[in-house]
Amino acid sequence: MEKIEFDFTKDGPILVKKDGKIEFALCRCGHSAKKPFCNGAHVQAAFKADEHRLELK
Ligand code: FES
Repeated sequence: MEKIEFDFTKDGPILVKKDGKIEFALCRCGHSAKKPFCNGAHVQAAFKADEHRLELK
C-alpha cells in the first residue's frame, strides 16, 4: 500500500509525496500564476504559515 503525505512547509507550499518522493507542490499562498501549483511566488509575497504534516495510510 502506498503512503501519501502532505507536507505543509514553513512559509511555503504543500508538498504532496508518494512513498517519500515529491510528486508536486501545491500553492497555499494564493499568489501563484500556475495554480494549483506553487511557482515560488510565496517568497516575493512574504507568505507566512506554520509547518504541518498530514499522512494518509
Ligand atoms: S505557495 Fe508557492 S506560490 Fe503559493
